[in-house]
Amino acid sequence: MFQSNLFAGRTVVITGAGRGIGLEVARQFLACGARVLAHVGRSADRELPAFLTQAENEGRAALFTADFGDGKGTAGFVAAVAEQVATVDVLINNAGTMFGRYPAATLTDEQYNAVVQLNQTAVVEVTRGLLPLMRAAGTAAIVNTVSISALTGGSPGSSIYSSSKAFVSTYSKALARELAPDGIRVNCVSPGTISTDFHERYSSAEKLEATRRTIPLQRLGTPEDCAPTYLFLSAPALSGYITGQVIEVNGGQLIC
Ligand SMILES: NC(=O)c1ccc[n+]([C@@H]2O[C@H](COP(=O)([O-])OP(=O)(O)OC[C@H]3O[C@@H](n4cnc5c(N)ncnc54)[C@H](OP(=O)(O)O)[C@@H]3O)[C@@H](O)[C@H]2O)c1
Repeated sequence: MFQSNLFAGRTVVITGAGRGIGLEVARQFLACGARVLAHVGRSADRELPAFLTQAENEGRAALFTADFGDGKGTAGFVAAVAEQVATVDVLINNAGTMFGRYPAATLTDEQYNAVVQLNQTAVVEVTRGLLPLMRAAGTAAIVNTVSISALTGGSPGSSIYSSSKAFVSTYSKALARELAPDGIRVNCVSPGTISTDFHERYSSAEKLEATRRTIPLQRLGTPEDCAPTYLFLSAPALSGYITGQVIEVNGGQLIC
C-alpha cells in the first residue's frame, strides 16, 4: 500500500467507511498521515477492522454512525463532526447503495424515496452542512463516489440508483464552478464493478462472471483499485489543477 506524509495535518471526512470502498479509502488516508473522521455506517453493531479502532484509540480517527435515510441523520452527523473539528480539508461522500432491483412498473414511492434520499439528497445535505468547515480550511477538496451506471444507465432494476449517481456527477460539476473561488475543488470517482458486499446483495455469481468477461483487464475491481484515485483527487500537490472531473475506475469496462 502507498504510504507517505501526503495528508499529515489534514482532516478528512469519509462517509460509508465501515466496509467496502470507503473502508479502504479510510485505510489509505490513515496510512498517509491524515486525521480521519469516518462515518462507519448505520449502526455500531458490526465489528470494525482493528486498524480503525486502533486509529481511534490513538486519536488519529474518530468514528461515527448515522442513518442517512432522512435529513435528521445527515444533520446529526454534520453536528457531530463540527463538535470535533473547526476545519475540514477533504470530504469524501461515499455512503450509498442500490437497496434492491426495482422494475419500473412496480417501483413504489417508498423504494424511490429511499434510493434518492441516500444516494442523492444525503450527498447534498452533508456537503451543505460541512461547507463552512471546508471554507474555513482555506483550500479543500470534495470527492464524491458515483458509478459507471451514471453513464450507462446500469442494468435492469437500477434506473433510480443509476439516475441518482448521474445527479451527483452533474451536481459535482456545478459545485466545482461555484466553489472554485473558495479554493474548494470538487471531483468524482466512478467505480465500475467492484467486489464488495454491494454485489453480494444485488448481483448473482453468473451476472458477475458475465460482466468480468466484458472487462478488458479481465477481472472485477477491488476497493484497493479504487482508493488511490480518491487520494489523488484530494491532494492539492497531485491534482491541484483538476476540478469538475469524473475519473472512471473500471478496468476498461467503459471506454468512450
Ligand atoms: N461496488 C461497486 O461495484 C460499486 C460500483 C459503483 C459505485 N459504487 C458506490 O460505491 C460506494 C460504496 O459502495 P461499496 O461497494 O463499498 O458498498 P458497501 O460495501 O455496501 O458499503 C456501502 C456503505 O454505505 C453505507 N450505507 C448504506 N446505507 C446507508 C444509510 N441508510 N445511511 C448511511 N450509510 C449507509 C453502508 O453502511 P452499513 O454498513 O450500515 O450498510 C456502507 O458503509 C456507494 O456509493 C456505491 O453506490 C459501488
